[in-house]
Amino acid sequence: MRNQYQYDVLVIGAGAAGLSLALRLATNLRVAVLAKDALEEGSTLYAQGGISAVYDSEDSLDSHIKDTISAGAGLCNEKAVQYTVENAKAATQWLVEQGVMFTRNNQNEDDKSFHLTREGGHSHRRVLHAEDATGRAIETSLEKQARLHSNIDLFEQHNVIDLITKNNNDGKSTCVGAYVLDRKQQHVFVFRARKTVLATGGASKVYLYTSNPDVSTGDGIAIAWRAGCRVSNLEFIQFHPTCLYHPQAKSFLITEAIRGEGGKLLLPDGSHFMQRFHPKGELAPRDIVARAIDHEMKRLGADYVLLDISYKPKDFILKHFPNIYQRCLEFGYDMTKEALPVVPAAHYTCGGVMTDLQGRTDLNNLYAVGETAFTGLHGANRMASNSLLECVVFAMAAAKDIEDSIQGQPYPPLLPEWDESRVTDSDEEIVVAHNWDELRRLMWDYVGIVRTNKRLERAQRRVDLLKMEVAEYYGNFRVTNDLLELRNLLLVAELIIQSAITRKESRGLHYTLNYPQTLPPEQTLNTILTPPHRSAQEQERVHWL
Ligand code: FAD
Ligand code: SIN
Repeated sequence: MRNQYQYDVLVIGAGAAGLSLALRLATNLRVAVLAKDALEEGSTLYAQGGISAVYDSEDSLDSHIKDTISAGAGLCNEKAVQYTVENAKAATQWLVEQGVMFTRNNQNEDDKSFHLTREGGHSHRRVLHAEDATGRAIETSLEKQARLHSNIDLFEQHNVIDLITKNNNDGKSTCVGAYVLDRKQQHVFVFRARKTVLATGGASKVYLYTSNPDVSTGDGIAIAWRAGCRVSNLEFIQFHPTCLYHPQAKSFLITEAIRGEGGKLLLPDGSHFMQRFHPKGELAPRDIVARAIDHEMKRLGADYVLLDISYKPKDFILKHFPNIYQRCLEFGYDMTKEALPVVPAAHYTCGGVMTDLQGRTDLNNLYAVGETAFTGLHGANRMASNSLLECVVFAMAAAKDIEDSIQGQPYPPLLPEWDESRVTDSDEEIVVAHNWDELRRLMWDYVGIVRTNKRLERAQRRVDLLKMEVAEYYGNFRVTNDLLELRNLLLVAELIIQSAITRKESRGLHYTLNYPQTLPPEQTLNTILTPPHRSAQEQERVHWL
């Protein structure tokens, strides 16, 4: 059996970040794209609201920058914000060239302008969208292009276990490829590459209730950490305020654009409450809305609050939100006639693998792009619709850096094969299933929207125990998809808890009853965690800090 593959670039992940990057590189380079499930499965496919960019004549780049920084609650890297906002038009136009059909204002045939919707934190209409299924339009268009490209090889059901690195004489590590489990053949292959990119998405699956699909298990963060990369700001987990409350709905998202188009949040008795929490009411930044809902639900002992847009004409609702309307009907709710029961759920990982503005990580030849990366764009709270934008803009930046630096770089030599000589098949799969459930519940209960020292310490103790059990299991048994994901989730949980314990204030998405105040700007910093085995020299490689 052929055990080793060789490519110019290995892209791990096939969402908006991974596919954008692969398509930009494939003109001159041979690219492998790996996805651990079906190719299209990932958060991108489920994105609803849209992608932000300044198109309205009343709007400005300055305003988009200000709104992003304001939502980020004092921790945005302003260079990353400026870079992203300035490249938003080029990024969205590139998406149109790939075939993405954004909704247009086509009242008359001459009007080709995009319809712009509005979401929390944005002071203008600034969100391009494809009805209420923007992510699907982006993912399927990029997938189509990637499948047609002769320089791109796509590997579905391939789960990356770990990166392969080599230590240089100067003490720096270089990434040369990865060990990859082919889930169908249950065999571990070696992928060698001149450049490797992590585009593995977020980690929201570490929580019991999440808007994310199953693949969001934080693999890129865990893999990069084990290889020696720093991670930053992992305490800032975004909880989306409005997911459908229904036992079978698996936290189906109800887009913020519904509030952008006038939807109101109500208590179960029908009264308004958001004005009590923020002057912008329903369109306050997401952290404030999610916390307000959490507070009211706990105060009243309620299972949910209500989101009501039923007072708008039926035609309007069907035109703007056809997919959500249909999905809610399947669950027994007609949103043109009644309010929807909604609850918050874990939605987005603002922190991640530290990169510079070219997507470069701490390791030579290793990049990180998309939700797995920490560029500093989102600070302590991501503004709606800035994430898809970050994926496409930083894919463009990383692609350029890869093209500029790959010339003359040799291919890695043959690498050691994956060693299974000392492991057997598991006889206790129940350990993995049980620990998965326990971890996700404890993270929800102890490391959720409102935190305390005591809850965080309790969570840390439980995670330490689970980590020990899983490490023993990993050492003795053949790897499976579930085991790999659990191992990564446990590590990411630990990093989230450590980051939360480190922050002695409440800011943006991190709220703790022990430190309810926000520190003055000069006393606060991004939380940076450094793997224990990293040299001081390596720590200097990310330049913008
Ligand atoms: P993903 O699209 O999640 O893709 C991750 C890829 O990595 C997948 O292909 C997966 O298989 C692969 N992968 C993961 N681990 C491994 C591994 N170990 N080995 C191999 N492959 C691996 N953002 C917005 O800006 N606007 C919105 O309207 C919006 N709506 C959203 C709605 C929902 C329901 C959700 C969940 C998110 C939404 N977001 C939105 C956030 C946004 O969709 C994501 O942040 C973004 O799509 C992430 O893209 P990505 O390419 O980084 O990762
Ligand atoms: C939504 O449509 O509400 C999600 C938007 C986002 O997460 O950016």
